Amino acid sequence: MMPESITIGVVGLGTMGLGIAQVFAAAGYKVLATDAHEPARANARARLRAALEPRVAKGALTAEAMEATLANLTVVDVPEALALASLIIEAILETLPAKQTLFAALEAVIAPETVLATNTSSLSVTAIAEGLNHPERVLGLHFFNPAPVMKLVELVAHPGTTEAALTLARTATETAGKTIIACPDRPGFIVNRCARPYYGEALALLEEGRTASDIDASMLAAGYRIGPLSLIDLIGADINLAATEGLQAAIHHPRYHVFDVLKAQVAAGHLGRKTGRGFLFPDVPAAAPKDAAEIALRIEATLANEAAWLLSEGGVTSEGIDKALKLGLNFPRGPFEAAALHHADLVRETLERLEAAAPPHLKTRYLPPST
Ligand SMILES: NC(=O)c1ccc[n+]([C@@H]2O[C@H](COP(=O)([O-])OP(=O)(O)OC[C@H]3O[C@@H](n4cnc5c(N)ncnc54)[C@H](O)[C@@H]3O)[C@@H](O)[C@H]2O)c1
Repeated sequence: MMPESITIGVVGLGTMGLGIAQVFAAAGYKVLATDAHEPARANARARLRAALEPRVAKGALTAEAMEATLANLTVVDVPEALALASLIIEAILETLPAKQTLFAALEAVIAPETVLATNTSSLSVTAIAEGLNHPERVLGLHFFNPAPVMKLVELVAHPGTTEAALTLARTATETAGKTIIACPDRPGFIVNRCARPYYGEALALLEEGRTASDIDASMLAAGYRIGPLSLIDLIGADINLAATEGLQAAIHHPRYHVFDVLKAQVAAGHLGRKTGRGFLFPDVPAAAPKDAAEIALRIEATLANEAAWLLSEGGVTSEGIDKALKLGLNFPRGPFEAAALHHADLVRETLERLEAAAPPHLKTRYLPPST
């Protein structure tokens, strides 16, 4: 697909929408974008320029390329003005009624084959499509933050999404330089779901009395760029809590147990970097403990188990899951690669040991999917 051949629409010019607009505009697509909030429309171009200028200053982007990107973005006042777009991506408020209302309003003015993509992190794509005249053109295009930097985009089909819609979304996004991983419409898609044990098992260890420094240092020693508790500090304990509660509400399993230590952290307002104090922040991990390899094995075993559960539900491949976690979370290896490194038997034994020792509220947390 040549970027000149189709126009991309973007609704919502906040953190994600502006980043998504930048991705396509930089790749040569004409982008029509809008936001319900007037100031967000009025300053979108200035914010895009401010995002690009440091790259020009560093020599990573030419001034001409920056101007070309800016010239490809047209901000319009109402979503109806996106009628010319072949693919419209929404990055608005994360509520089902907001997204359904927007898509219904768009349907009144767009061609039946125009693809409607949602950037939702936590809502069901099937539910967003429900009630539309043409639900078959609805899909998920889940970008990661910051969208211009993160390579991965999860492409989410609901059971009725057409191949034509998926192909158009995939081709346009790949042409814009992203790596697409297909996944079914399940809570957390791939990355947000398969990442849970990285945080959860660290919180379990913390509740068992290990220090945040020991836990994070163990994962650094195993090759991870950032330890799980420092990662919670970076993202925000409140965001992490909401993501875990979302999965627990959707899947109801001790694998998504919401640890008291996380709730207490949020209640105390120690959300991490944004509040100046987190599990570890402003400190950094000290030296790795003697049993660092055991801690890393435990966390990687639970990561592999979650990935095995998702794989067992269908619609994804082990390669896709590995790639998604490496690209989406900067993990040094995917969960299946980690399991292979430790050998499947050791991973199985580790999970059996954890299950045997699990306190009542965590019983069944470590069970593998039945094969
Ligand atoms: N922030 C992230 O890390 C992240 C990552 C992946 C996906 N997402 C998803 O992307 C979406 C947007 O998130 P964000 O972080 O960019 O939010 P944001 O608050 O930064 O931006 C949302 C923008 O949408 C506008 N908006 C709200 N309702 C609207 C409507 N009905 N019509 C038009 N514009 C409307 C707001 O004015 C705002 O400018 C959400 O669905 C979120 O779950 C966020």
